[in-house]
Amino acid sequence: MNGYDAVRPLLFRLPAETAHGTVHRLLGTVQGTPVERLLRARYRVDDPRLSVDAFDLSFPNPVGVAAGFDKNSQIPSALAGLGFGHVEIGGVTADAQDGNPRPRMFRLREDEGIINRMGFNNHGADRIGARMARQSLPDVPVGANIGKSKATPLESAEADYLYTYERVAAHADYFAVNVSSPNTPGLRELQDRENLERILTTLQDAGASPLLVKLSPDLPESAVADALDLVTELGLDGVIATNTTTERPDGLRSRHRDKEGGLSGRPIQSRATEMIRFAAERADVPVVGVGGVFTAEDAYRKIRAGAHVVQLYTGLVYRGPSIARDINEGLLELLERDGFDGVEAAIGADLD
Ligand code: FNR
Repeated sequence: MNGYDAVRPLLFRLPAETAHGTVHRLLGTVQGTPVERLLRARYRVDDPRLSVDAFDLSFPNPVGVAAGFDKNSQIPSALAGLGFGHVEIGGVTADAQDGNPRPRMFRLREDEGIINRMGFNNHGADRIGARMARQSLPDVPVGANIGKSKATPLESAEADYLYTYERVAAHADYFAVNVSSPNTPGLRELQDRENLERILTTLQDAGASPLLVKLSPDLPESAVADALDLVTELGLDGVIATNTTTERPDGLRSRHRDKEGGLSGRPIQSRATEMIRFAAERADVPVVGVGGVFTAEDAYRKIRAGAHVVQLYTGLVYRGPSIARDINEGLLELLERDGFDGVEAAIGADLD
């Protein structure tokens, strides 16, 4: 039994967002103190076989924190202390936003999933940019996930993304254009070729690099193909697959399964892996694989399907603070079993 087995029932008695707030505050208290160094000693797995180079960044290990966990860039260094190899902060929007009314986050315990309809609650680009400027950022890559303010019409989306980009530009190592969250009305229409091209070229012209786009698992295959072709044409640096789904796969058991919002975790695991495979085959750029990663086997499957690195959010809720260490240690065993001399050798091993 690890420590989290004792703590989880207490956290799970709280509403999901309250539990998240508690954990987030605790990590905030620890950040920058000697306790963070203790965490590091306990949870970091330092092994050169885990390191991955992608879009001109060096990742010490392939397990990152997905967007949404640290929306306001308050605890990137504490998260790195838990052994994560990168942290994606955000989604940040140009406007400070309250998001949707609570409750807006639900645990689907029996399914190891979460449904959320947070709606880009965040402190806004001015405040978050200023915070990033004064905080000591961790020694792992930090990405900024950029969304669109709710009040900005889709037609002028590019100006909104640009505003945010300019405020975080100097403080992040990569930039993720989020056009795939289901909780801002119309946002996912920005995955259409014309809209996407406008946003991406605006950011490229402003010097955004490395620039990645995060896609929805609900896009029909032809639309994914169009988006990936655009990624290649524009010379983008990478793709993140995937965001949450508004679909409800058969077999969900939790009483919360019909809540409105985006579903994450175990129920989207195989769909996300399929999309990673499709992206890795179609676009010649690194893929960041995300969706239902809980174990080393889950991460390994995504890496073999073409992901350079993976990210997780829901897994951290269900498995607790040792998840990055457990995955990294497990990956080393899997690599050894299969005769790979490192993660990089296994990337795309299952592709034809
Ligand atoms: C998210 N996710 C998310 N994604 C994004 O691009 N911008 C965001 O602001 C958020 N916010 C957010 C909040 C909450 C509460 C959750 C659960 C998720 C999506 C997240 O980054 C990831 O793509 C999915 O959750 C799938 O990964 P997991 O959770 O299955 O590991």
